[in-house]
Amino acid sequence: MNRPYIICHMVTSIDGKVTGDFLSRPECEKATEIYYEINRNYKADGFICGRETMQESFAGKEDAPHYKYKNVDVPSGDFIGDKNAKFFAVSFDRHGHIGWKSNYIKDEDPGYDNAHIIEIVEGDALDTGALAYFRDIGISYIGADTMGPNIPLALQKLKENFGINKLLLEGGSAINSSFLGAGVIDELSLVVAPVTANYADKSLFEYSSIAEFKLKKIKQYDDVVWMNYIRK
Ligand SMILES: NC(=O)c1ccc[n+]([C@@H]2O[C@H](COP(=O)([O-])OP(=O)(O)OC[C@H]3O[C@@H](n4cnc5c(N)ncnc54)[C@H](OP(=O)(O)O)[C@@H]3O)[C@@H](O)[C@H]2O)c1
Repeated sequence: MNRPYIICHMVTSIDGKVTGDFLSRPECEKATEIYYEINRNYKADGFICGRETMQESFAGKEDAPHYKYKNVDVPSGDFIGDKNAKFFAVSFDRHGHIGWKSNYIKDEDPGYDNAHIIEIVEGDALDTGALAYFRDIGISYIGADTMGPNIPLALQKLKENFGINKLLLEGGSAINSSFLGAGVIDELSLVVAPVTANYADKSLFEYSSIAEFKLKKIKQYDDVVWMNYIRK
């Protein structure tokens, strides 16, 4: 395979939602614990999230200070911020908006801590100064020369430039659906919490499309269920 193997790993409600208040309810605590445990057991080379999830879980809402870098010249092409990195946080942030403070994630959970950040940007959507800012703080990036979203190409470059072979795709709903649409989800790992969600919460794939999967494993932990599917 010329790209990393992709496992979409998510906590869902009984009705297949992945965003909203149900995630912070007591009924979801056990599911979240199991979710982190399964994350670590996969021993992936890193994880992928969309811009919303990266800001909510790791970076905060503050925008990157691109205005300070408006007149800085940047060489064309991709950029490797740390050649020695072995574990990665892949951030789908087409405009380069996220105000990262460092080029590594700091998190209590070992499934996320110490991941080197790689921004997946889109050349035609970038804010001026974004690339100069990322270079300045040592964040890697891919896609500065591309026009529009190209998930298969981004994945191929992750393999070629960083040696990444296995990644967990960990939401949210929007980025999951783009990966489904691009046909690059190889496996689903769904931890179902014993609760339903609100009507406005988003489902596993915001914009779904038909794709066939085969059930590989199912496991019950009291009232939480883990379902593991492989792409047919
Ligand atoms: N249940 C779980 O296990 C779980 C796991 C993770 C997250 N979540 C929840 O998911 C929520 C966020 O989900 P979300 O669907 O709103 O956002 P998301 O998927 O986290 O991020 C979407 C954003 O990613 C950027 N993006 C870049 N390339 C993209 C592409 N090819 N396709 C789609 N988006 C692309 C876009 O940013 P721009 O708008 O800047 O273009 C887009 O708005 C959070 O509230 C979080 O709590 C749940």
